[in-house]
Amino acid sequence: MSAPQILQVGPLPPQTNRQLQEHFGAMALWQQPEPLAWAREHGRQVRVVVTSARHGCTRELIDALPALEAIVSFGVGYDTIAVDVAHARGIQVSNTPDVLNDCVADLAFGLLIDAARGIAHGDRFVRAGRWRDGPMPLATRVSGKRLGILGLGRIGQKVAQRAAGFDMEIAYHNRHPRAGAPWRHEPDLKALAAWADFLVVATPGGADTAGLVSREIIEALGPRGILVNVARGSVIDEAAMTAALAAGRLGGAGLDVFRDEPNVPAALCEMDHVVLAPHIASSTHETRAAMEALVIENLDAFLTGGKVVTPVQ
Ligand code: NAP
Ligand code: 8YV
Repeated sequence: MSAPQILQVGPLPPQTNRQLQEHFGAMALWQQPEPLAWAREHGRQVRVVVTSARHGCTRELIDALPALEAIVSFGVGYDTIAVDVAHARGIQVSNTPDVLNDCVADLAFGLLIDAARGIAHGDRFVRAGRWRDGPMPLATRVSGKRLGILGLGRIGQKVAQRAAGFDMEIAYHNRHPRAGAPWRHEPDLKALAAWADFLVVATPGGADTAGLVSREIIEALGPRGILVNVARGSVIDEAAMTAALAAGRLGGAGLDVFRDEPNVPAALCEMDHVVLAPHIASSTHETRAAMEALVIENLDAFLTGGKVVTPVQ
C-alpha cells in the first residue's frame, strides 16, 4: 500500500465514506486496531485529516503527522479538535458553519415548546392509557414570554428569529454585543437567567465555556424557568442541573447534548419535565447532505488551491 495523503479519523455517512475513499484515496484510520500507532508508523505523507465534530483530532494525532497541512471537519463545533496546536503549526482547520443553522434552531425551538407544553410527556400519557383516568396537568405558555439566549452567534440568531414569531421578548449574553443585532445585550449572564422564562444555550463547547451555566445560573433561572441546550453538554454543570430539576429549583429542560454522550444521567430519564434528544439537532437529510457537500468542497479547495473555504479562525 502506498503511503496515504488523506487520513479519515472516523466514519461519516456511507456515500461520503465512499467518495473519500474512491475519489480522494482516503485511508480509514478507524478501521485500524491501533489508530494512533498506525498514524505514527505510516502517517509521514499525510497532508489532510478528514474528521467530524464527534471524532475530533487530538494533539497526539497532529503530532504523529509531520506533513499535515489541513484538518477538514464535518460539523460546526470544533471543541474536539486541537485547533491551537494545528494553528501553531500553520495547519488550516475547516468546519461546516451556517448550513446547519436552521435545523439546529428548529430543534432548539422544538425542545423549548416540548419542555414547556409537555408534548413528549403527553405522548407517553396517551400511550400508557392514563388519559382515561383524568387530564394531563396544566403546562407553561410559550408565546409572549421572555427568551434569554446564551451565545447569539449563527445559530443563536436563528433561535431569536423564530422566537419573534412567538411574540417573545428577547435578550442575549455574549462576551461582546453583536453588531447590528436588534436584541438587548445583557453583559451579566446571571441577570439574563434571572430575567428569562427560557434560557437557550448556543455557545461553542470547550475549555472557555466549561460549566458556564453553573449552579448559580441554573438557580437564577429558577423553579419556573426552562433550560434548553443545543450547544455542548460541557457548557452546563450537568450534576447541578439534574439536582435542581429533581428538587424543583429548575422548572424544566430540553436537552440535545450531554457531558458523556451517549450516556445520559439515569435521573434525567425518569423526569417528565425534561425532554431528551440524542444529539440530533443537525440530523435531517437536507442539512446532513449540505454538511457533507461542504466537507468535500473544503477538501477539494485545499487540494486544488491550497485553501479551505470555511476556515476556523
Ligand atoms: P458561533 O456563530 O461561533 O456563535 C457562538 C456564540 O457564542 C457567539 O455569539 C459568541 O459570542 C458566543 N460565545 C462564545 N464564547 C462565549 C462565552 N465564553 N460566553 C458567552 N458567550 C460566548 O457558533 P454557531 O455556529 O452558532 O455554533 C454554536 C455551537 O453550537 C457550536 O460550536 C456547537 O458546539 C453547537 N452545535 C450543536 C449542534 C447539535 O447538534 N446539537 C449542531 C451544531 C452546532 P462572543 O464571542 O461575543 O462571546
Ligand atoms: C453533529 C454538531 O451532530 O455541528 C456540530 O457541531 O454537534 C452536529 O452538527 C455532529 O457532532 C457532527 O459530527
